[in-house]
This record gives sequence, C-alpha cells and structure tokens, in this order.
Amino acid sequence: MRFFIDTANIEEIKEIAKWGVLSGVTTNPSLIAKEGKDFKKVVGEICEIVDGDISAEVICTDPEGMIKEGKEIAKWHKNVVIKLPTIPSGLEACKALSKENIKVNMTLCFSVNQALLCASAGAKYVSPFVGRLDDINQDGIMLIKDLATVFKVQNIKTEILSASIRNPLHVIESARAGADVATIPYKVFKQMIQHPLTDKGLEKFLNDWNEAMLKKTAVTA
Ligand code: G3P
Repeated sequence: MRFFIDTANIEEIKEIAKWGVLSGVTTNPSLIAKEGKDFKKVVGEICEIVDGDISAEVICTDPEGMIKEGKEIAKWHKNVVIKLPTIPSGLEACKALSKENIKVNMTLCFSVNQALLCASAGAKYVSPFVGRLDDINQDGIMLIKDLATVFKVQNIKTEILSASIRNPLHVIESARAGADVATIPYKVFKQMIQHPLTDKGLEKFLNDWNEAMLKKTAVTA
C-alpha cells in the first residue's frame, strides 16, 4: 500500500516528504480553504515538493463545468489528478476526462456500487471515505474489504484510495483489507512512527554507549 498525505499545508507536506514515504498528495476544497491561499499556487507548490499523483478537486457540479474546470486544472502540472465527486455528473465528467488521458480520482465514495460505476467511467482512483462511514455507525473498513474483493474478482484496475483516515488503526486495517493507497493526515503520520519502546530503547543504547566511552577515556587518561 502506497502513502499519500491528505493536506494542503506546505509545511506538513515538506516534513513528511523528507521521510521518503510519500507517493502523492490529496487535497479537497475544505483543505485548500483552510490554508487561505490561491488554489493554483498551492497545487503548484505541492507539485514541486512531491513527485507523484496530486489530487485537486473541481468546484463545479454540472458536467460541462466539471469537464472545463478539470481540463484547466490538468494543465497546471503533469502530476495533477482531477478529483470529482461521485455523483451522476461526476461520472459523466470522469468518462470525458479519462478519454483524454486525464487522470481522475472519484471522491466521496461510500458504496461498492458507486465504486463500480466510477471504475466503469474510467477513474484511475476511487476514494472510499472510511472515517465518515464510521461516523454514521457503518463500518468504513468493511467497504475497503468489499471493494478489494470485488475489484479482484472483476479484474478492475481502478485503484482503491482509502480516504478520511482518522487514526493509525485505519491505516493498518486499510492495508490488511487490500487498499492500493491510503491518504493520511499529517497528525496520523506522526502517530504511526511513534512507539514508546523505540524511544526508551534508543535512550538506553545511547546512555550505554556514552557510559562505556567515559570509562574508556578514564582508563586511557
Ligand atoms: O481525503 C478525504 C478526507 O480529506 C476527508 O477526511 O476527516 O474530513 O472525513 P475527513
């Protein structure tokens, strides 16, 4: 499973990119709005930091508007993936953009049927929202499992991009369920790398080393 970061914050992207673990970035209108910067400028900056698929979402909801906006955004950088909502006009726009070899990520996906339609319309990625399903007492990870099974049986090449991840267990469960990619918030990346036994173990290694060096210096002095 590859890792994308789910943020439009440049500092967060820079920090996690340094770890060498990022294959892409996802943004959405809420994340872009939170940064209070120009959309095109932010996407351009992100493309300079991460060499991988960068999702940028359209604002239009009618098919013609989505196609026009999608084509325009796709010109910003070769790595830009157009993010479209999983609604009928989104499917129409997905088909039209995919035909022109523009990569599409279908977002706000909450069911296997929606995902099957997205795949048929030519989507490169489909983004099931794990956390938002959990929020309404539905099992988000179960959707990832079902999708992985169905896509495998049907030999569907559309990639499952596990989204709306809220905690480190969502990441593990997405990997176990067969997601191709997980898009993860900055805070969750920080939680993933943390382990108290790593910190404790490192502290002991360094203390032992320093003590031994002090003794050696004392003997040779
Ligand atoms: O990638 C989609 C993600 O940004 C939504 O996350 O936490 O707002 O449900 P959340």
